[in-house]
Amino acid sequence: MSYFQHQVAEARPVRIGLIGAGWIGKFHAESVALRIPNARLEAIADPALPAVESLAERLSVAKISTDPADVLADPDVDAVLIAAPVRFHSGLIAAAARAGKHVFCEKPGGRTVEELDEALNAADAAGVLVQFGFNRRYAPDFAAARRLIDEGVVGTPQLLRSLTRDPGSDAGIANPERIPPGTIFLETLIHDFDTLNWLNPGAVPVRVHAVADALVAPEAKPGGLLDTAVVTVTYSNGAIAVAEANFNALYGYDVRGEVFGSAGMVAAGGPQASSATSYTAAGIRSATVRLNVDLFHAAYTAEVAHFVDTIKAGRDGLQAPGSRGPGGTDARNALAVALAAVRSAESGMSVEIASIAELRAAEPEFHLAGGKA
Ligand SMILES: NC(=O)c1ccc[n+]([C@@H]2O[C@H](COP(=O)([O-])OP(=O)(O)OC[C@H]3O[C@@H](n4cnc5c(N)ncnc54)[C@H](O)[C@@H]3O)[C@@H](O)[C@H]2O)c1
Repeated sequence: MSYFQHQVAEARPVRIGLIGAGWIGKFHAESVALRIPNARLEAIADPALPAVESLAERLSVAKISTDPADVLADPDVDAVLIAAPVRFHSGLIAAAARAGKHVFCEKPGGRTVEELDEALNAADAAGVLVQFGFNRRYAPDFAAARRLIDEGVVGTPQLLRSLTRDPGSDAGIANPERIPPGTIFLETLIHDFDTLNWLNPGAVPVRVHAVADALVAPEAKPGGLLDTAVVTVTYSNGAIAVAEANFNALYGYDVRGEVFGSAGMVAAGGPQASSATSYTAAGIRSATVRLNVDLFHAAYTAEVAHFVDTIKAGRDGLQAPGSRGPGGTDARNALAVALAAVRSAESGMSVEIASIAELRAAEPEFHLAGGKA
């Protein structure tokens, strides 16, 4: 069944219900309500009512609830945007699918590949679109890097690198008990794993070795909280990748990717807020940002706009956008690497991805129309 079967006759905005209105949910709510013309924020659900009330008032959303079931039962909601804590993701995807709602879900799609598969099967059976929040694919410089790779600039990929250095202001370093064990792999580095998978099209991850420690907040280590990690990933085409993360980058939010191969190299990202640089007697300076929603402001908006455009095109009987958003296969592949990394860091041994899940390569196309470096 295809999601294009969910068609309605009249042209109208795609009406979105937000489930989970915390840090990233609020940003997505603002994107839908203020920055994406084809979309409308129809309803919000979050058990923390004060957060819902103030957000709903600010964005003129009339329907609010503490229960996601109310949003799922609302016939005026075409699609949901899930930004609840991870433990609810797979259940909410499946429930949304059974209610006939298209789904945009933040990463990771589940805590295990098995529960993610159940959710994806439900979405498949219902014929709804599912897109995951791998926003780096929508950052213009990363999208341009992928296009160069598709054009053959790199040749055969041999070495890949992806890094996330988070200033920690919202990562809970000041309040380490907020971060459950495994977070650095399942919620932070999963972006890097998806980026590496995506920048190595046609290949699948085969083996993972992870080393991690609590170097920023050593007192949190007995609780299992890790803030610094390096992961090597070996791919089916022989390429070797390194992903690294740290939760206390004092100089600002820093995300980079690099692919080196037989014909050359492409690189994307960096900590600078813009290319503006001052050259003075004090040296060379450029500004940086502290928050992911500042570094990736455009990308977070573009990913939801793409989700909306895909639904709208299907609904209106038009051709879908010339690319697909990151879907179930991408979410499974990134989650499998993250789970292998958790296991590797615990055991000190390399972990075969096949011991986590059988993977297939994602369809080898993704081009964001109009993206430029
Ligand atoms: N793509 C990104 O770069 C990015 C950035 C930040 C967070 N995230 C992801 O988004 C998700 C949320 O993270 P966050 O930082 O916004 O967390 P958060 O704690 O700030 O917000 C979570 C919200 O969900 C609400 N909630 C709790 N249980 C719920 C339920 N059953 N149904 C609906 N809402 C519920 C909470 O009250 C809270 O308001 C996580 O999966 C995280 O990994 C992604």
